[in-house]
Amino acid sequence: MKKILFINGPNLNMLGKRQVEIYGSYSLQDIEAQCLDLAKKIGLDIEFFQSNSEGEIVDKIQNMYLSNNYAGLIINAAAYTHTSIAIADALAMVGMPKIELHISNIYKRENFRRKSFVSAVVDASMCGFGAEGYVLALQAIKNMLKE
Ligand code: DQA
Repeated sequence: MKKILFINGPNLNMLGKRQVEIYGSYSLQDIEAQCLDLAKKIGLDIEFFQSNSEGEIVDKIQNMYLSNNYAGLIINAAAYTHTSIAIADALAMVGMPKIELHISNIYKRENFRRKSFVSAVVDASMCGFGAEGYVLALQAIKNMLKE
């Protein structure tokens, strides 16, 4: 079965410890476990990837594009959302369903978070649902695959 890839950018390995008033108390491992539960129920395979390095994220997207193992992508590029044309260019190559995801509502925060280079190269963007956004995005991509 082809997989849904979750890409998590810098500092998301610190979820549960970092700015819990904004990002909540779930760790990335907790979130992955919740997604695995849902994935089983709805018949999807998932893979979680996290990196603090822009180049590693670009490499991962390129590998995804070149391999035949994936059906869709959910990306929380974290701070690289607002800065990285390299990640946006890599995402633009990928033809399968792609969702941009943020835990916080990036439009309700500092001005610099309002610009997303990712938004223009994905099918849909979600933000502000907290950690639950991950399972919501997984359900959403399942629905996109059905269409
Ligand atoms: C984030 C929002 C970004 O602005 C921030 O740099 C992050 C996390 C979110 O999930 O809310 O690291 O992508």
